[in-house]
Amino acid sequence: MLATSIFAAAIGFGSLVTAQFGLTDNDDSYVVNAGSANSLVATVDKASCDVTSIVYRGAELQSSSKYTHIGSGLGSATVSAQTIDDQYVKVTCETDTLTHYIVVKSGEANLYMATYTSAEPEIGELRYIARLDNSILPSSYPFGDVSTTVGSTETIEGSDVFLVDGETRSKFYSSDRFIDDHVHCVYGDDTHACFVKPALAYEAASGGPFFRDIDTNNGGDYTSLTFYMNSGHVQTEAFRMGLHGPYALTFSRSGVPALADFDFSFFADLDIQGYVAESGRGYVSGTASGVGSDYQTVVAWSNDEAQYWAYASTDGSFTSPAVKPGTYTMKLYQTELEVASQSVDVSAGSTTSSDIASTLTAPTTSLWTIGSCDGQPTGFLNADKQLRMHPSDSRMSDWGPTDFVVGEANATDFPMALFKAVNSGQNITFSLEDASSDATLRIRTTLAFASGRPQVVVNTWTADAPDAPTKIDSRGVTRGAYRGYGEAYEVDIPSSELVAGQNSIQINVISGSSGDEFLSPNFILDCIELYR
Ligand SMILES: *[C@@H]1O[C@H](CO)[C@@H](O)[C@H](O)[C@H]1NC(C)=O
Ligand SMILES: *[C@@H]1O[C@H](CO)[C@@H](O)[C@H](O)[C@H]1NC(C)=O
Repeated sequence: MLATSIFAAAIGFGSLVTAQFGLTDNDDSYVVNAGSANSLVATVDKASCDVTSIVYRGAELQSSSKYTHIGSGLGSATVSAQTIDDQYVKVTCETDTLTHYIVVKSGEANLYMATYTSAEPEIGELRYIARLDNSILPSSYPFGDVSTTVGSTETIEGSDVFLVDGETRSKFYSSDRFIDDHVHCVYGDDTHACFVKPALAYEAASGGPFFRDIDTNNGGDYTSLTFYMNSGHVQTEAFRMGLHGPYALTFSRSGVPALADFDFSFFADLDIQGYVAESGRGYVSGTASGVGSDYQTVVAWSNDEAQYWAYASTDGSFTSPAVKPGTYTMKLYQTELEVASQSVDVSAGSTTSSDIASTLTAPTTSLWTIGSCDGQPTGFLNADKQLRMHPSDSRMSDWGPTDFVVGEANATDFPMALFKAVNSGQNITFSLEDASSDATLRIRTTLAFASGRPQVVVNTWTADAPDAPTKIDSRGVTRGAYRGYGEAYEVDIPSSELVAGQNSIQINVISGSSGDEFLSPNFILDCIELYR
């Protein structure tokens, strides 16, 4: 009992000393003490804006090999700092085209941040990367060690996919869809470092609700924790400029923080370039219809300056986040398949009503469908693994090609991706009672690599080769990505090429490009339908 109270008193005394909120202006750095119960002291370099030290509960979390910063570091910046209302320390780092803010709120072990850009940083992407001590923070949340590449024995692909303990690993396998990615962390026994991201964090990012990129990587020298805003990895739209954020780099003990516990509205009082407070924003609400209950119903808004999204409720009703005034394209998604698009105007202080209905029409007669048409490869062979490992991983099922018999096999027997050098020539066998009328084959894909596209042979008839899809200059399926522009290829099959009884369709991957194995031209499937 006595020992316990002495211990408690010592802790109490210790936290009094370290809990002094404030800013210290040194020759080369600003040191910010958060004054939090779990102490946090961060040091920002005055010449570069690099965070060079993060001491949490007395332990240095910052890696000694590379610092924590926006992009790959600003190199040089004009760095200033001020204390506001005895409650906030705001560090401002300015270059000609970028202003980065780091804000510490008294009593909280968090680095709140926001980044204003008028041009893309020179490295060609916008991200904040914390490089932390991997002996203290070795693990990743929420996807575990899929992105732990320390201890690799072999390089599988490029300079970013490795073999560890017989498993393929890559920083890319830690990605999560923007719409779902509110909190991601690296952690150890009793410390978590996390990015917490409200809707506003993605407002000036690019790629839409289903975009995903690197979140975590225990790579050997350090553990990196990254928040990607504009990325060149499977990029499908132009980068946005303006204010990215606020977002927070948080430090906690054993718990993963919850977005709901964070309030970022104090940024309105801190003179942040490009910040638009709630009072200067409006909303869109309405009802989305026509998306079946087997799917997610997602509504998204975008224009050149901003992007937002929301899940609709089960009754289809939705309300947007607080959006900046302007004209937006509002899209409805059946999970990830775009099924409607319309324009909507939003003004500050008001809610615009706008209902949206799926324009997807069911064919008169569906003969069969393989997979579900939802903009994802979900359900196909290996789709349950592709986000988290390389297609060559020994845990993957054999890629085929197989002879898929409609009515006997199901989508889990059909490879999620067809590769020119691996499983081109995938077959579908089906029987028709009546071959007296034409039919249409539609192959929906989610992503093409190296212009890979399907050319089909129906029985003995070879259909025309489709035009090449719009090229995305980035690896895809091998890095856990599946979402690109999403092409749909339609083949009109004349009745003269069909027979009553057994028919076959062979899908070949064509492309002018070459490449070995899983880096050969390829495409990812969403669904395949035969209808009249
Ligand atoms: C696909 O069908 C063609 C034509 O019937 C046949 O030659 C080929 O062996 C089949 N491939 C597979 C993998 O079953
Ligand atoms: C389809 O695949 C699922 C999952 O592997 C399996 O449970 C089901 O039995 C399969 N159905 C048929 C008809 O093969």
